[in-house]
Amino acid sequence: MKYVRFSLGLCLAMLMLCACASPESKSDPAPTSAQERVRIVVASDLHYLSQALTDNGPLFRRIVEHGDGKLMLDIEAITEAFVEQMISERPDAVVLTGDLSFNGEAQSLADLAEKLGRLQETGIPVLVIPGNHDVRRSGTYRYSGDSYEPVPNASADDFRKLYAAFGPQQASSVDTLSGSYVWEAAEGLRLLLLDTNSVVVNSFQSESLDWLESELREANEAGAQVICFSHQNLLIHNSMFVFGYQISNADAVMELLAQYGVLANLCGHVHIQHALDGPVPEILTSPLSLVPCRYGLFVWDGAGLTYEARSVDVSAWARRHGRTEEQLLSFDTYAAESFYQIYYRQIADGLTEVELPDGAQERMARCFADTNLAYFTGTMSERERLLTELDFWVSVAGESFETAYLRGILQDESPDPLYVQLR
Ligand SMILES: [Fe+2]
Repeated sequence: MKYVRFSLGLCLAMLMLCACASPESKSDPAPTSAQERVRIVVASDLHYLSQALTDNGPLFRRIVEHGDGKLMLDIEAITEAFVEQMISERPDAVVLTGDLSFNGEAQSLADLAEKLGRLQETGIPVLVIPGNHDVRRSGTYRYSGDSYEPVPNASADDFRKLYAAFGPQQASSVDTLSGSYVWEAAEGLRLLLLDTNSVVVNSFQSESLDWLESELREANEAGAQVICFSHQNLLIHNSMFVFGYQISNADAVMELLAQYGVLANLCGHVHIQHALDGPVPEILTSPLSLVPCRYGLFVWDGAGLTYEARSVDVSAWARRHGRTEEQLLSFDTYAAESFYQIYYRQIADGLTEVELPDGAQERMARCFADTNLAYFTGTMSERERLLTELDFWVSVAGESFETAYLRGILQDESPDPLYVQLR
């Protein structure tokens, strides 16, 4: 029977994060004699913005400072550092599970395709699927000074043409309707990449379920294991965020994946690092564009897989390239502080008109920022202290959407999402 063994708690997870620059960490399972290991990187929600579309000027800075914590001022450095780290670590493939672009700008997708092409030319296959931010978006702009102007977005056809070389052209099977495909990673391992955005955003085409079942059946008959990838999620990872987060016909897809014993679904979209058991276990990798610039390395050894969260070392990239900006040289600190300030201000700025006891505003804002930082990065280590701070919040300001949101996170007892074993 398939099960998830979530391992070893936060201490080991933190050690593994510290060891992230090492291409082979101690947590990689030993190779089996019968089966060579396959090492595949999965990353999500890069949200790359072409540097031709921003001057990082006053307007764009305000957008970033009031955004969701994505490190958009440094997206070029993050992307280049990621590509270089992949070339150095040499996984057997790199999978990007959607939201490749900031907001679906055709120029961003074209520029990123050039960067991924450089990676692929080194012999590392790159496989992509679109996210909801990549096709048919409104609000695609060039930002300059205090103004912005519209620029072309990408249609689903544009995306498929631009990224045909990143998965579909090497696939063993492509579903032309949904844009989904199957890629043979090794003898006995197939990757199933579901496109849930090309035709209708956040849906897998019901007309494509027959294709899906036939691919799963064929893999089964060939004795191959299957790992699935999607942008949006098949399981509900936060009960306050379901509509628009869970694939609209997730039940039908999940039923088929479970029936044919798919090992796991790997995805993103929610911008949190999270793992859940279910009919098919699901692992969310937090965005490349968010502290601490995560990706997942999974290792398949013929019997199952291990998943380990790692980070892009942007500071090392900056040093190698002679960059002198302090924020790049101390990137982890800068990235965490940037995230923290955004979420701190969301509460502090909203409480300026509210009468509260001395110090309460700061405690509430810190509780919100601390909880979000731990939740998004998958490193919840102060649950009891934060629950106490939440009780204080309710005692001075009552219940609200924010307190319900925080309680949901702090009572979430799902396992360590930084290291997962599936057998
Ligand atoms: Fe998304």
